[in-house]
Amino acid sequence: MKVDGVPRRSIWPAADGGAIEVIDQTRLPHAFEIRRLATCEDAGHAIATMVVRGAPLIGVTAAYGMAFAAAENASDAALEAAALRLKAARPTAVNLRWAVDRVLTRLRPLYERDRPSAAWQEAGRIAEEDVGFCAAIGAHGAAVIRKLAEAAGGAPLNILTHCNAGWLAAVDWGTALAPIYAAHDQGVALHVWVDETRPRNQGAALTAWELKSHGVPHTLIVDNAGGHLMQQGQVDMVIVGSDRTAANGDVCNKIGTYLKALAAHDNDIPFYAALPSSTIDWTLASGATIPIEDRSEDEVAWMSGRTADGRIERVRIAPEGVRAANPAFDVTPARLVTGIITERGVRPATRDGLRELFPDMAGG
Ligand code: MRU
Repeated sequence: MKVDGVPRRSIWPAADGGAIEVIDQTRLPHAFEIRRLATCEDAGHAIATMVVRGAPLIGVTAAYGMAFAAAENASDAALEAAALRLKAARPTAVNLRWAVDRVLTRLRPLYERDRPSAAWQEAGRIAEEDVGFCAAIGAHGAAVIRKLAEAAGGAPLNILTHCNAGWLAAVDWGTALAPIYAAHDQGVALHVWVDETRPRNQGAALTAWELKSHGVPHTLIVDNAGGHLMQQGQVDMVIVGSDRTAANGDVCNKIGTYLKALAAHDNDIPFYAALPSSTIDWTLASGATIPIEDRSEDEVAWMSGRTADGRIERVRIAPEGVRAANPAFDVTPARLVTGIITERGVRPATRDGLRELFPDMAGG
């Protein structure tokens, strides 16, 4: 996607070949800054501190982390240790485990001397595949949007989204936002309700920034406004991403997604999850055992933003000493999901629906 007319991805190999570069997502929307990651520790730190975030991007960054680890010490023991460290950086998005294991599987049969270049190539392949997956999700999802827009009779289709599942969360295009970009580029009249997504405000900071850069009409709303807008007939469709999808179609995504799905269900509004196959955890029969990341109390008690004179500051919004809970994700049961949009097409959120699309991955 473009930033100020310049084509950008969220992650790319540095020109000198010895590192990767990423957009520092903790600084957006107030500053566009690029960070260089050159070691396995850099990659793990960028994931843990959310310089990079979003399930697909976490996976790609971790894959490059494994490539750095192989360049540092390509022995079996060192690579296994690096894999464990990277996987511990964030617990919920399964892409992290998926990408690290994929690189490990590629490296195990090789001589140590061949491992660094093989790991670097595998990380690059994972990144390129993700771009292809997201472009295909965009095409399949745009067809769903077009159909709903036709039924709406030409009035702009109002789509609500939660958190940031745009190109910043992937390598390019995004998951939930890919169909929106594709439909918008095809000339479908649409408007996006952007949930601010407390406590880290990925909707306000990142989704609004992305949509504005691409010229997609949108309006920022507080997280609690969605239900009301749905009751008022102002939402025609909900699309979200996913950090981990169980084999039965349960979808784990940013905290608050479940409430949006409940409200959509109560108001007969289609609720779609858009996700690449790398986000499906075939080992889980349901979403009940997905590990939910518990984040710092400070994210709830403090907010950061730009002051009127341009400084970026943190301010406390809760009384001193108050306890806060901060679960970062929740699970939306498959029965509340109208359909899952993947790189291979759209199916009901059921075991059979997913198995039909991915017979090569679903296992027995
Ligand atoms: O905590 P984050 O910002 O990493 O959470 C991101 C999300 O919840 C996204 O919706 C999800 O990763 C899907 S991204 C394409």
